[in-house]
Amino acid sequence: MNANVQLAALVDVDQDAVTPLAKEYGARAFTDYREMLDAGVVDAVSIATPHHLHTMMGLACLEAGVHVLMEKPLANRVSEADALVAAARARKLKLAVNHQYRVHRLSLEMKRVLDSGTVGRILRVLWTWLLFRSDAYYRRDRWRSTWDTAGGGVIMYQASHDLDLLCWMIGKPALVSAVLANQLHSSVLDDIASAWFQFTNGAVGSFQASINSPKGFSVRQVQGDKGVLMLQDVASLYDDEDEIVQVQSYEDQLSHLVIAQEDHEAQPGGTYQTITLKKERSTRWSRTIERVNRRLLHKEVVVRLSPRAVLLNDFVDSIISNRDPLVTGESARDTIEVINACILSALRKRIVQLPLDTEQYDDLFMELTKGSVSVPRFR
Ligand SMILES: NC(=O)c1ccc[n+]([C@@H]2O[C@H](COP(=O)([O-])OP(=O)(O)OC[C@H]3O[C@@H](n4cnc5c(N)ncnc54)[C@H](O)[C@@H]3O)[C@@H](O)[C@H]2O)c1
Repeated sequence: MNANVQLAALVDVDQDAVTPLAKEYGARAFTDYREMLDAGVVDAVSIATPHHLHTMMGLACLEAGVHVLMEKPLANRVSEADALVAAARARKLKLAVNHQYRVHRLSLEMKRVLDSGTVGRILRVLWTWLLFRSDAYYRRDRWRSTWDTAGGGVIMYQASHDLDLLCWMIGKPALVSAVLANQLHSSVLDDIASAWFQFTNGAVGSFQASINSPKGFSVRQVQGDKGVLMLQDVASLYDDEDEIVQVQSYEDQLSHLVIAQEDHEAQPGGTYQTITLKKERSTRWSRTIERVNRRLLHKEVVVRLSPRAVLLNDFVDSIISNRDPLVTGESARDTIEVINACILSALRKRIVQLPLDTEQYDDLFMELTKGSVSVPRFR
């Protein structure tokens, strides 16, 4: 437990679940978040409710002067995300988002390599996220299966993490073209998504996310004019021990070779570096996170915390030190913009330019919730 945090209240509509849990932690139990806010017992909240409640609850908390750590996705629509970001800014409150993939060691290692300039100017990105989820996963709670509650299928629920990583590592795309489909599942939502991105520097990206593909073969490749960064066949970004990040550095910059190379069939050679993640491996980014944890936990020995605990500690430290959290509301808002752009592109069948026209998306979202527009089903 973070020494600077006291768990003051727990809220859940399920009274039978919240009462014993609150008792166990010496906190007050509420079944209505507005009553908790009226009681004035919290300075900060962590909101982990179904997606459609994020905006309403987040705005109420911010308006009550309470800092917010929001589960991903920040909101279902970018217009809602904008409202949350504006409310936090207006009241000088922290709005952080649980995109915990950003503190996975593999992501930190990729980010470190990209920021070091080793691969140079980025030309191409190939990125997949694959997992199998049966219908039973969605039957647990109805909110996971409808547009008005979940805000999308795999593109929103699961791919939001990897699209957040893409925006964080590469930048927000300028052009988006996507297809969504429902191939196997009984819900009305997408279970597979494929997108093509053009980034502002001209780099192109291909992205696939699917819950129809057993995990184990995800590929993440970023190629620049000086080298290429590769993560092959990764089952999970979290269970990372002994996973390998490969980096190939070309013998010369491709922008030079394309002019200077006289042999028209010659392929540029290069040197390979493999970075294996061991238990104790510490990157520059993870060292920063470990420092935060050490300070907040008042421990000299670094405890390897779960990524979610890392972000919770970071959120607390951002309030105490009055600095930005690692995952700001603004950056998570950009991720929602890209997701909304993918949905708009796929269902209106056109290339979408960013910044996204939020009114166009709100109109489409209304049609999706009414069922007058739907994700194509293939059987
Ligand atoms: N960061 C991650 O990797 C990760 C993983 C799983 C889920 N999530 C996110 O966490 C959030 C919750 O997902 P979940 O799988 O835990 O959902 P869930 O349905 O299992 O749990 C949601 C909880 O919210 C409660 N709830 C519903 N309406 C409420 C209300 N009006 N007031 C108070 N409580 C209410 C429910 O009773 C339930 O306990 C979602 O945003 C989801 O995307 C994030």
